[in-house]
Formats: sequence, C-alpha cells, structure tokens
Amino acid sequence: MNILIIGGGGREHAIGWKLNQSPQVNTIYFAPGNGGTSQIGKNIDLTEIGDLVTFAKNNDIGLTVVGPEVPLAQGIVDTFHRHGLRIFGPSKMAARLETSKAWAVEFMQRHQIPCPESYIFSDVEKAKEHIKDSSWSSFVIKADGLAAGKGVVLASSKVKATKAVESMMISKAFGDAGGKILIQEKLVGYEVSIIAVADGKTAVKMVPSQDHKRAYDGDRGPNTGGMGAYAPVGKADAAFLKSVDETILEPLMNGMREEGYPYVGAIYPGIMVTKNGPKVLEFNARFGDPETQPQLMLLESDLLEILEACVEGTLSSELVQFKSGATMCVILASKGYPGPYKTGSVIHGLDTISNLDIQIFHAGTRKVGDDIVTDGGRVLAVTSYGSTLQEARDHVYSAIGTDGVYFDEMEFRKDIAWQGLTNTRNKK
Ligand code: AMP
Ligand code: GLY
Repeated sequence: MNILIIGGGGREHAIGWKLNQSPQVNTIYFAPGNGGTSQIGKNIDLTEIGDLVTFAKNNDIGLTVVGPEVPLAQGIVDTFHRHGLRIFGPSKMAARLETSKAWAVEFMQRHQIPCPESYIFSDVEKAKEHIKDSSWSSFVIKADGLAAGKGVVLASSKVKATKAVESMMISKAFGDAGGKILIQEKLVGYEVSIIAVADGKTAVKMVPSQDHKRAYDGDRGPNTGGMGAYAPVGKADAAFLKSVDETILEPLMNGMREEGYPYVGAIYPGIMVTKNGPKVLEFNARFGDPETQPQLMLLESDLLEILEACVEGTLSSELVQFKSGATMCVILASKGYPGPYKTGSVIHGLDTISNLDIQIFHAGTRKVGDDIVTDGGRVLAVTSYGSTLQEARDHVYSAIGTDGVYFDEMEFRKDIAWQGLTNTRNKK
C-alpha cells in the first residue's frame, strides 16, 4: 500500500519511520516532508487540498495520514472522503475540539468532562470587566482559534490579564484567533499528555508521555511547541488511566457521536492532574509533537493496522501494544527559538549514530546537495529506547554534541524527563 503523510515535522518523520516497518507498506510520500523523510520516502511539494486529492488518486494512495492541525481545520478529511479516499484524521466539524477552544469548553460542559472554570467573551469591554470584578488573582487567557501553540497567556495579576486580553482582542496578537477569548481558572498540578487513537466509537490510549513546553532547563523561559518528551510516565498509573477513560475519553467519544460528529483520528487531551482529579486544559485533534517520537519508538504493534482499524471502525485495545522499557526524545533547536533564529547551518554527525536504540527524527531540516542543513526552530528530535528511563536518557544525551550530532548555534534542554527520573517508579 502507498501512504501519503501530510506534514513536515519530527512527528511526521516518526510516523513514516514506524509505517515503513509494516510489511504491507510500499512507498511513503510526505507533503512536504523534510530532510529526513526524503531518506525513507519521497517528499512532494504540494499543500493545496485539491492538489493532494489529485496526487492521492494518481499515485494509488491507500491511506493518507494527517499530522498537523491546519489541514484538519481546512477540511482535508471531508474533501478526501468526498472523493472516496481513505484518510486518518477528524472531520472539520470534529476538529473543532482543537480549532475552537470555546467550542471545546462548551462541549466539555455539555458532557460533564472535567475542565477549568471558563468564561468566553467576544466583547473586549465585557472581558475586562469580568477580570476587574473577579475574585481570582491569577488567570489564564486563551485565544479561541489556532495560534500555533502560542495563544495562551498565564497572567499572575489582574493588570497582566487585562493586558493579555487587550493584546489578543485589540492588537490582534494572534490575528482572527483572538476575536473570541477564554478567561480560565489557573489550575495547579502536573501535566500529562494522553494521546489516543479513535475510530468514531472507541478511543484507545497510547502510552502516556510528558512534554516539556518551556524553552529552558528547569521549565523556565517561553512556551515552545515542545522541547522533549518521554514515555511512559510513572505517575500516570492504572487508576489515573482508568479515570481518564471514564471521565474524559468515553464521554468525549459518546458526546461527539451523539452530536453528529463521530471522532476518527488521534485525540490528544492536554491534562492537568489536580488534587481533584484530571482536568482537560485543551484538546488537540492530532498526535503530539514531540510526544509521538518516543511513543512510536515504544510501540510494539504495526502502526498501519492501527490506523486502518481507525478508518474502518474496527479498533480494539489489543491492536495497540507497547514494549516494556522507556523512550525519550530531546529536541535540538536553533538558537533563538521560539523567537527568530538563523537557518542553513550544516548538521554534523548524522551518520555517526549506529546504535539502533537511537533514532534521529528530522523536523526543520532540508537537504542541500550532500548536506542536511537546519531549516526551522525545532531541528531534530533525538529519540532513544532503554530498558529503563535512565538508560534511555543516557543513550539520548550520548548522541548529542561534537561526538555525535551537532550544528552551529544548537540549543537543547539538558533536563528532559527530570520528573520521570525523580519518580521512584521510573528509577533504575
Ligand atoms: P494549552 O495550549 O491550552 O495546552 O496551554 C498551554 C500551556 O499553558 C499548558 O500546557 C499549560 O502549561 C498552561 N495552561 C493552559 N491552561 C491552563 C490552566 N487553566 N491552568 C494552568 N495552566 C494552564
Ligand atoms: N507537544 C505539544 C503539541 O503537540 O501540541
């Protein structure tokens, strides 16, 4: 079967790497892909949905897999379905779980899914008045629409909250995404990414993983797309996972079906585990990046069988099995990310990694002649397997630096998985 993967990040490279191990997969195409995906498949330079439909028809694509949220918001799944093409991902209406935070909160309220207390505003004066009259001293202000992971401001005072509202609604810091905003209670707890695959009726969880969103060690600095992740998460024990199924995933799948938008694809609730149990901070209608990299490295099962079961409506938990051990991924970023950075630096040492427990997934890279050069903020996702998290960590950091992979002005966090390593259940 030929496969088309939409996207060009580390997540898409990891999906392609895993699908490539399936005996049924022939050629994998990536639109647009990156310097790494061109080594396991063919990159195609198409972004228009109509062009992708034509490509899929002309190249005998048996399954298309959508990585990022933007094509979902544009309705790629609906268009492919209209042309009778199989595609893994939610419809445009179902993807509102991610594309409208206001819709998602109202959906959770309708279906008693635990989430922070939230207020929705389209009028700037009413939003400011709400903050002025509030008994809260800290707030979370969110732009309703897609803002590339940047539309959330944690405000520790009324003055800062008001500024965030003005910047979203008046200065349009996130464009139209901030036409409507949410004012949310600030929760305290620890975050876990629960990512599940869904076939319209059932959602089956992948191994729990934990992202590191802040740019610098010690969880300091600006929020990024994610600087590293590990799996499994020791703290996400069986009782916690059961409560996620019962309080989040089951009501979500039932609610979406009842409302007429059965959910097919990856569903990723960002969860804060509070002293009152797990609460949903937001939904993503896709796999995580970088969580996918360690998750797929730990996946025992054939990914093609899982994705096909999702689109055919035959998913079961037996199809989604993970190995024992642990995996983690460290993002090598361009200096300056998530702000401005330079591109075009040659990446050294990609051929020096022969340890099969280490995989280097490309994100912002591009092939120039015989070189692979940097071409984005998040450049590489160095990912490793170990029988313990400590071993996975030792592998991953041994592959980074002048004895391994490096480029000019490379930056990365040195403390990925610190929470897992201080949790006794994950210790060697
Ligand atoms: P989101 O994009 O909504 O997941 O938000 C990005 C990050 O902001 C999350 O990963 C959390 O670290 C933080 N965050 C979002 N909502 C809340 C909240 N209600 N309380 C505390 N932290 C939050
Ligand atoms: N790792 C965060 C995300 O995929 O949105």
